[in-house]
Formats: sequence, C-alpha cells, structure tokens
Amino acid sequence: MFDTQSFVLKGDICFSTDPQTLKTIPDGYLVCLDGRCAGAFSQLPGQYQNLPLLDCAGKLIVPGLVDLHVHAPQYSYRALGMDLELLEWLETHTFPEESKYRDVAYARKMYPRFVEDLVKGPNTRACIFATVHNDATLHLMDLLEDSGLCTMVGKVNMDRNSPDSLREADAQASLDATRDWLGRLAGRYQRTKPILTPRFVPSCTDELMQGLGQIQKEYHLPVQSHLSENPSEIAWVQELCPQSRFYGDAYRMFGLFGGADCPTIMAHCVYSSDEEVELMKQQGVFIAHCPASNTNLASGIAPVRRYLTEGIPTGLGSDVAGGTHTSIFRTMADAIQVSKLRWRLQDNSLAPLTAAEAFYLGTLGGGAFFGKVGTFLTEYDFDALVIDDSRYTPQGSRSIPERLERTLYLSDDRDLKHKFAAGRQLF
Ligand code: GUN
Ligand code: FE
Repeated sequence: MFDTQSFVLKGDICFSTDPQTLKTIPDGYLVCLDGRCAGAFSQLPGQYQNLPLLDCAGKLIVPGLVDLHVHAPQYSYRALGMDLELLEWLETHTFPEESKYRDVAYARKMYPRFVEDLVKGPNTRACIFATVHNDATLHLMDLLEDSGLCTMVGKVNMDRNSPDSLREADAQASLDATRDWLGRLAGRYQRTKPILTPRFVPSCTDELMQGLGQIQKEYHLPVQSHLSENPSEIAWVQELCPQSRFYGDAYRMFGLFGGADCPTIMAHCVYSSDEEVELMKQQGVFIAHCPASNTNLASGIAPVRRYLTEGIPTGLGSDVAGGTHTSIFRTMADAIQVSKLRWRLQDNSLAPLTAAEAFYLGTLGGGAFFGKVGTFLTEYDFDALVIDDSRYTPQGSRSIPERLERTLYLSDDRDLKHKFAAGRQLF
C-alpha cells in the first residue's frame, strides 16, 4: 500500500476525454503527484523515474466510477417491493425503513454495511441521500470520511406527504435542523461534503423550499433532488404547485435549480418536457440517469441520447434501492440496454448508447459535478481502479476497448485489485 500521494501505476490505461473518445495506452504509465493526475504516458518521463511504481502489467487501469444518485438508508431493503410504482413503493417500503434511522443505534448497525460494500466496489465518488435525521446522517458522514471515498451527503428535507414517523414537524423545524446539521459538520471533514437535499416537490412545502433557497445562498451549497421520474408524480406536482409551469420550474421558483452558484443534480428526468430540458441546459443542471431504478419501478426510459446531443451535463446513478446494485459498471450496462429498448420500442430517432458513451457517463460525465474528476488528463483528481480482467478475458486476446466493454458487463468486486480516490489508496 502506498502511504504517499505521489507514485506511478503501470498497466493498460483507458479513459474518456469526451462522450465519443476513449483514449488507450497499452502498457503505459499513469502518474499521481500530490493526489492529482500528472498524465498518462507510453514511456515514463525522466522526472518521474524516482517515484514509487506499482507494476500492474496486463491489468486495466481506468478512472474511478461516479454514482450521482444513491440513497444510503435504502441499502438495507434493496430488491424488495419491485412490483410497485414509485409513489406506492415510497409509502410501502421507503418511508417505513427510513423512519428507523431516527434511532442512531439503527444507523450504527446499518450504515457500515453500505459503506463497506461501497469501498469494495468500483465507485470512488457518490452523491448520497441520507434521511431527515441529523445524528444518523452525521454518523454516515463519519463512516464515509474514514473510508477514503469522496462523497456529497444530504440530510433529507421533508415536511409534508409522508408518515408522522418520518416527516419533520413543519418547514421551520426542517430548516432549523438543516442549520444545526451544517453547524455540526463544519470543519469536520475533508472528503465528505454537505449537499442540500429537498427529497422532491411532493415532500416539501413552498415555505420549506423558500427557506432552503435562502440557506443555499448563504452557504453556497450544491443541491440534489428528484425530477420528472413517474407520470403520477408529475401530475401530483402540478396539483401541489399550480403556479409552476412544469416540474423543474417548482425548484427554480425557489432558487434550487442550477445556475453559477448553485450546482444541482436532478435524478431521473424520464419525462422532462422541452421547456424543462431547455431550462436545465441554461442552468447547467446535471442529470443523474438511473436506468435500473427506472426499470424496476416501471418509471420509463430517459432520453439520454438527447441529453448528450444537447450538451446537458449527465452522469449515472444507481438510485439504490430503486436500483438494486451500487456498481456503476452495472449501471453502464443497464444504460446501454435500456437505450436499445427505447430506440426499438419508443423512438428510433435516438440511437442507442455505445459502451464508450456509457463509460464516459459513469466517469467524466458524473465526475464533472465534483470538479476535475473522472479522467486521466493532467490536474484531475487521481481516482483510479486497477482491474484484473483475466477471469473473463484471457490475457493478450482482446484490444483495450473490447476488454473495457466486457468489463462493464462481466466484472465484479473480485476483479478489482486496487482502488484510489483523490490520490489515496483504499486497497
Ligand atoms: N422520489 C422521492 N423519493 C424518492 C426515492 O427515495 N427514490 C426514488 N427513486 N424516487 C424518489
Ligand atoms: Fe432516488
């Protein structure tokens, strides 16, 4: 294990520089200097000759994967209730389970399982929903900080349309709790950042949204939420917020929908109207595409090809427990598969995603939300995976792009040999 943040990895290097371009360097050298990438080379430049070198010849070296949307407290009941649609599933499974995190002892029992499994898998970054509870959320953040992963974590806000056991008493109580949470975490973490997390419009009164908009301006925090996931949800938002022109407008009205000082992720965007897409584009709102969740909850298939073509920043989300697996390799394969069904069954003007495009979405596409993350260009944070793919691809038998494609579908945690997040070796 390296205990330094400056070193060299040797192996078969592969990374995206844009949705269509996959760069490969067989038997190359990847240099990490003070936690940042100093470049990927065919020959090791002289000035790096004295750095410690980890020889991973024959193994794939790719950027760490980015999960733009996942619910930590839902890890405990994934793959349950998948015969329901969104709103019934929330009522039946999600809200009762999340209520349990009021008891910090429950969080102490359950959150380590989520974090330990995340460490073993291919993701180095994640934007995470916790629950409304501050103690449990801070415990989750402590575990994540110790893990070495780089994350953004949200204490969830919800003051309507959920059971008494989970709902916050009113907007003021939810806002006070948010300020208390921000006060308690200030100065406590390096790798674990807060993100404002109004659950979705049906869970938050206008007064709460207004107050969160105020907190966002004061603290310059990023925002994450859900958008245009399911037809019944969208119709309900229109009833609850009749003055909004479309779903996304109900976040914009309160200053919670992108713009220069408010980086925002919206999960799903399966049914976004032209106006909504236009506003996301203008505001630089990131889309977290969650294909497994959209399949399991029969939500639909988001037009990701359109988002890529229009240049809307887009990444991938596992959306556990809507999705069943945290691995963003798996999500890449899911994204390709659902894009084919959409093309065949729904709209043959939007071509299916290629493996290179799915890999881009799960690395650089989502990584951009964290800054310079998700590729091996110089100055980018050094997030890397070393994968021994010989279990499913005999050494020397395939090109690097072919090996990568097979890795999306076939790799699992067994094949991951080393993992680095922001220059720190996790294993
Ligand atoms: N919309 C509001 N809450 C949730 C959630 O927990 N999961 C999903 N998939 N959608 C939501
Ligand atoms: Fe979600």
